[in-house]
Amino acid sequence: MLTLGIETSCDETGVALTDGRRVLASVVTSSVHLHKKYGGVVPEIASRYHVEYIIAVLSEALARSKRSLKDVRLVAVTNGPGLVGALLTGISAAKSISYSLGRPIIGVNHVLAHLYSAFLNEGSAPRFPFVGLVVSGGHTALFLCEKVGRQELLGQTQDDAIGEAFDKVGKLLGLGYPGGPEVEKAALASKNVNSIKFPKSYLGKDSLDFSFSGLKTAVLYYVRKTRLAEGIIADICYAFQEAALDALVEKACLACETSGVKRIVVGGGVSINSRLREKFDYAARLRGYDVRFPKKEYCLDNAAMVGFLGGELYKRGSRSDLYLSAEPNLEVKYAE
Ligand code: KG4
Ligand code: ZN
Repeated sequence: MLTLGIETSCDETGVALTDGRRVLASVVTSSVHLHKKYGGVVPEIASRYHVEYIIAVLSEALARSKRSLKDVRLVAVTNGPGLVGALLTGISAAKSISYSLGRPIIGVNHVLAHLYSAFLNEGSAPRFPFVGLVVSGGHTALFLCEKVGRQELLGQTQDDAIGEAFDKVGKLLGLGYPGGPEVEKAALASKNVNSIKFPKSYLGKDSLDFSFSGLKTAVLYYVRKTRLAEGIIADICYAFQEAALDALVEKACLACETSGVKRIVVGGGVSINSRLREKFDYAARLRGYDVRFPKKEYCLDNAAMVGFLGGELYKRGSRSDLYLSAEPNLEVKYAE
């Protein structure tokens, strides 16, 4: 079923055409360059950018897919969580298309779209049940997934999201916005990989929740008492990244142990991080787990993951209508 996916929850404007797990086209443009000087996303700027670019991105996606709007059978759009003004652009576009074509519309939860984004990879689909880990700028959560769209929340961050922690540490070290890719790049240049150790927070040995604020504060205190130079910045980034990523891998493995499941599927912006992939690969080899990551182009915000999940949910009977609203704090529906 040819699905038009639309994503505008934050600073990426995305439109995709998907058919099940097949992506015919996925186009993304980002206003990230406009937010850099503010050190974070400015909602009003993001919203205006979506308004300016949504039609161009839609046209480009249609052209690349060699399909026309009339071929679209379903319109899937992110309706939360996210920035309300930003979400509204995508939702308004989706409603107009749905209404004018007489095609159904379905609202998609952005966090769940990340959770199932590894299904867009070529080759065999991840098998159920699996432990799902979403690691993004706004969320850090572990799920037990039974089928697409049916998942139970096992744990989540109690304070900062993992991507947010990367961004804040990047800012603290003067590395620019967004901090995630900059911190990863700086860490690669570390020549004294064991010179600094930051505390890892586990919130108790059986807990599947996360906490990154203590780690962030430890970095802050370290920075305050240190004269920063390129070498030391690289060492701090390395130590921070190790502590932050180890918590993700260890909690995901703990979730596998407690649930008896040996499969892990990761998604979200931070899943693009190569060190995280290395750590999961190592854990997988050691414990015999099957670990899947999305293709790099589907880690960060994109509309292909929205089209895929929308299509799956529709097949299973979920429906929205033209009253679909932007839900900035939309919670994950853990199980249907
Ligand atoms: O999933 P995403 O595009 O947006 C949200 O839904 O939040 O994730 C964006 C987050 C940002 O915090 C960004 O710094 C982080 O993903 N990120 C990374 C890397 N690339 C992006 N974090 C660590 N390493 C990276 N290479
Ligand atoms: Zn996202």
